[in-house]
Amino acid sequence: MGELSTTELQKLARDHLWMHNRDWEHMAENSEPMIIVKGSGIRVEDSEGNSWIDLNGGYNSVNVGYGRKAIADAVFSQASKLPYFPATTTTLSTVNLVAKISGLAPGSLNRTFPTSGGSEANETALKVARAFHKRRGDTGRYKIISRRGSYHGATGGVMWLGSTPIVPMADYEPSAPGMLYAPQPNAYRCEFNSQSDSECAHRSAKAIEDLILNNGPDSIAAVIAEPISVPQGAVVPGEEYWPMVREICDKYGVILIADEIVCGFGRTGKMFGVNHWDVVPDIMTVAKGLVSSYLPIGATIVRDEIADFFAGDQKYLRHIFTFSGHPVSAAASLANIKLIEQDNLVENSNIAGEYFKNKLEGFKDKYKVIGDVRGRGLLLAAELVSDRETKARFDPSLKVNEIITRKFQARGIIFRVSTNILNIAPPLSITKDEVDEICVAIDEVLTELESELGM
Ligand SMILES: Cc1ncc(COP(=O)(O)O)c(C=O)c1O
Repeated sequence: MGELSTTELQKLARDHLWMHNRDWEHMAENSEPMIIVKGSGIRVEDSEGNSWIDLNGGYNSVNVGYGRKAIADAVFSQASKLPYFPATTTTLSTVNLVAKISGLAPGSLNRTFPTSGGSEANETALKVARAFHKRRGDTGRYKIISRRGSYHGATGGVMWLGSTPIVPMADYEPSAPGMLYAPQPNAYRCEFNSQSDSECAHRSAKAIEDLILNNGPDSIAAVIAEPISVPQGAVVPGEEYWPMVREICDKYGVILIADEIVCGFGRTGKMFGVNHWDVVPDIMTVAKGLVSSYLPIGATIVRDEIADFFAGDQKYLRHIFTFSGHPVSAAASLANIKLIEQDNLVENSNIAGEYFKNKLEGFKDKYKVIGDVRGRGLLLAAELVSDRETKARFDPSLKVNEIITRKFQARGIIFRVSTNILNIAPPLSITKDEVDEICVAIDEVLTELESELGM
């Protein structure tokens, strides 16, 4: 902070900082950006001393909540002792972390390549999947199947996976070759007009098989999917989906990558999202909850049967990020996982999540602007519609998302709403009283919104 006033700091930010998904002209009109100076639990404080609830939990990522001293102490201790390492060596905290991950991850997901974040973890997963096939002599496999409506990262390769309306791709075309897109198993807006979760799950999984068959099984390297997808609003597929996708991948020799970057580390009420269906992917990517965003780190966790192809003289994966295996991030991550375990945050995610979801279901009875409520644990969503019968979305020119964000802000809640979907992902440490407090605000905001929209 130094001696600078909030206004001066904001001007410096607008003049020099290129923020995520924001532009400096628009921020100037609204006297933004807000400068955050500290936080505790689900709350943060701005440079003017105002307290705010963070309903997005950073970017669905501050799992243990703000202000956890144990992580700060671990960071200080590791950085004081050893901030980095000589080439070809590794460190105590990094070794302990990958051993810990191996103990938590299902099946033979035992080999971890640490990265600096989620996009790098998914880039690494794609490289491992393609290289694995090449090394087996199955050299024609390079195509990757992702799902419409998913997001897997911002960097040059993974940016072409999935597709969401909030990340238009036209600026960056042409696309990477070999990208194939499957339906999102979202029963509320099923591409097949399915009449049940089960039917949508079945047909969406079958669509992956059709894509494989139509494009030539021996050209498909991998399928990548989040267990519960965020951009379309906490899409929980019907029970059949994940087991079927696993079976299809096995049948055609395709690598199954589970993107657990949001779901991992308790977000959905289990340690990992795939645990809801007892499915073991071939590769699992994690970030966000791995360190609750205290420092940058991600990881690509690979089954032994695949990783083994990268062992032996001259067989190693030629792949390096300078910050891969960073000891300070690893120490932060270990302290974070310890807190998740000690505080039973996975269980709390389940309990508080169910409590929160029930409240949202109650609002659905009261407000017809809510078309659907979905999610698991503390990855929840309420999808807003202008007409419940037709499921019509609001005209984008109404900027309903911005109106909602402003209304929450007026009630002391920072809540980024990008589309017609309220994506709710507070820290997993949230209490029932805090859920109640947030729900008072949601109730008020929806009353005002319906009245202003004449619903
Ligand atoms: C499911 C999913 N995968 C990957 C990413 C990319 O992670 P990062 O922003 O750490 O690069 C995100 C980020 O929001 C995500 O939600």
